[in-house]
Amino acid sequence: MKALITAGGRGTRLRPITHTKNKHLIPIANKPMLAYAIESVAEAGITSIGIITNADSQDVQDTFGNGNSYGVEITYIPQEAPLGLAHVVKISEDFIKTDPFLFYLGDNMLVGGVKKFVDSFEASKANCHLTLAKVKDPQRFGVPELNNGQIISIVEKPSDPKSDYAVSGLYIYDSSIFEAVNAISPSARGELEISDAHQYLLDNGFKISYSEITGWWKDTGKPIDLLEANRLVLDHQQSNILGSVDGNSTITGNVIIGKGSTIQNSIIRGPVIIGEDCDIRDSYIGPFTSIDDNTSIFHSEIEFSIVLKQCKIHDVGFRIEESLLGAEVEIVKSKRLPKTNRFMLADHSNIEVS
Ligand code: G1P
Repeated sequence: MKALITAGGRGTRLRPITHTKNKHLIPIANKPMLAYAIESVAEAGITSIGIITNADSQDVQDTFGNGNSYGVEITYIPQEAPLGLAHVVKISEDFIKTDPFLFYLGDNMLVGGVKKFVDSFEASKANCHLTLAKVKDPQRFGVPELNNGQIISIVEKPSDPKSDYAVSGLYIYDSSIFEAVNAISPSARGELEISDAHQYLLDNGFKISYSEITGWWKDTGKPIDLLEANRLVLDHQQSNILGSVDGNSTITGNVIIGKGSTIQNSIIRGPVIIGEDCDIRDSYIGPFTSIDDNTSIFHSEIEFSIVLKQCKIHDVGFRIEESLLGAEVEIVKSKRLPKTNRFMLADHSNIEVS
């Protein structure tokens, strides 16, 4: 079996971070989102992985290389334009050939691995195995209609959903999917929809089986989804303190502190991850916060947030919450007059003041 993982797109809902960083490289608990997909595929024993990237960028290649450090072999497949998930499958036929394969949307996160779904696919002798998750807003997804434990139809982003399930971003196929993606036409939004390919399979006598996802998954399209995914990953982590913590600091809950980091006179209330070479002084770091390498936090409070590398948060007089800070962001108390707030923000930045 092979795997195909998507890592393209523009991530417009995550601007300005995605002006400079591919969405799939945004760290969740200090590790690029895409690393979770690669790791779960590798854990399922799949070593040949195709990753779909934007044709005009090398950033995913620069991050993951040939995949050796993950014990896999990565082939990069550039997509010239975002023409839909069925188009992704279509342009990957030369790589997949006649093997069965797992198709994993790199902006979906699953805990508990994917091996059990591969096993279900093999046991079911189906042509396609889908993973369904109960959601509050099925209109945003591909939605199945179920009857007696069978999927009888699938519609992409229906205004009148026939169930409260979403088809999540993990699919397993045999090569009949290529017949489907070559037969369908673009939707109203101009994309070859993966749901239309699934409907083609149903209409043409192919068998679709499914598993209900009992762990969790997230479509990480909006900032709050990223914070939520970060929360869920941190919730599963084990404490590991490699940096130094002075006697005036209190650490509670599961906390990871990377080597070279120093914590002085601070309260860290886990789950929290602090990367390497960070400097935390006279501060409070609250639950569900990820702080990446080389960041300094002095006389400040932060909770339920993601902070990328080399940020400075110094003497901030209010608690920072539910925030996503890109690399090298500075939030510092001004020492000059007049006493005003001064902002230097990139295009599409978003600040909410109280
Ligand atoms: C895509 C699929 C949709 C699926 C979703 C899962 O939606 O088209 O069927 O439910 O991924 O993340 P999109 O992310 O393109 O809106």
